[in-house]
Amino acid sequence: KRVILSGIQPTGIPHLGNYLGALSNWVNLQNTSKPEDELLFTVVGWHALTLPQKPKELATSRMDMLAILLAIGIDPKRCILFHQDHNPLHTELAWILSCLTPIGKLKRMTTWKSRLATSKNMRDGSEVDETGLNVGLFTYPVLQAADILVYRATHVPVGEDQSQHLELSRDLADQFNRTFKGPNRMFPLPTQFNTSSKRILSLRDSASKMSKSSPDPSSRILLTDSPNEIASKIRTAVTDSIAGITYDPINRPGTANLLTILAASKGEDVHETVKGYESKNHGALKRDVTEALQEMLRGPREEFERMKSEQGYLQQVAQEGKEKAVEKAEQTMREVRRRVGLA
Ligand code: TYM
Repeated sequence: KRVILSGIQPTGIPHLGNYLGALSNWVNLQNTSKPEDELLFTVVGWHALTLPQKPKELATSRMDMLAILLAIGIDPKRCILFHQDHNPLHTELAWILSCLTPIGKLKRMTTWKSRLATSKNMRDGSEVDETGLNVGLFTYPVLQAADILVYRATHVPVGEDQSQHLELSRDLADQFNRTFKGPNRMFPLPTQFNTSSKRILSLRDSASKMSKSSPDPSSRILLTDSPNEIASKIRTAVTDSIAGITYDPINRPGTANLLTILAASKGEDVHETVKGYESKNHGALKRDVTEALQEMLRGPREEFERMKSEQGYLQQVAQEGKEKAVEKAEQTMREVRRRVGLA
């Protein structure tokens, strides 16, 4: 039996990277799942707090994210859809897991290292001062492991940028299993699986991934962007000045990114997609990417607008999700407490 779990931070409307790298995969998994599979999808409010948030905006984003997930096709009858912060058992397990986590391991997390590097504390590149950064940012991956393990999840659909976090979740599951033995293995080791479009790049800077935190809004396409916004962002997307279109992620990352987006939005393999463009130019490619995105995002955008006006329904979904999530997590925690000696 598979227990599939994934999460997303409620930090604004998701972008195309979130959608193609993760969310569209959630919907596919749901629609192709077997009756015995269990699916859980969570909006991770506590993780969002690791960076400064304006309370009003966070509250809006948190409800918007639920509305978006419903708008793209997540069905609360087939999944447990819930707010992480509605289930305090995640933090209880996170504490226990943090007591099994070597500090050195967290220091090697690339997300932590990049925060350190961009923090203003890093002056000359040699002496790194971490005192200005918050502890939540540091232990973020432990909470993520708890999100997964508290439901004994076996499969975690996430983008490539989450691989190291998944590896830590497996290490902690294994560490717990070996430290606190019982009649059977406490936690399955969760495996990551991603879509073919694991990593969508920024439209303005091919050296970085498309992200919510980039200061330049034209670097990302949001799921709620209008057809005009999509057109203008794709028009200004960086490519290269090489004639013709080839798929070459190393030497032509901007062009490859557009091909990846086009292929994913049509549900094709990128090597198939590129065949139609051998004798075409960037103008033709951009036109087709624009059209494909306008088409793909129309339904979700309209549905999102509709959902937003149904606050009562959203609250009901969240409430039902919470009850199911807590019940399932409580089963795990009863056993965890017994094994560590806190029953
Ligand atoms: P978050 O909210 O940053 O991103 C949500 C999902 O989107 C994927 N993603 C991308 N995929 C491809 N290209 C991109 N440019 C891109 N940007 C983001 C991410 O891989 C992710 O799957 N730590 C997680 C949230 C989390 C979680 C969990 C995930 C908390 N607990 C438990 C799974 C299981 C995060 O910050 O995702």
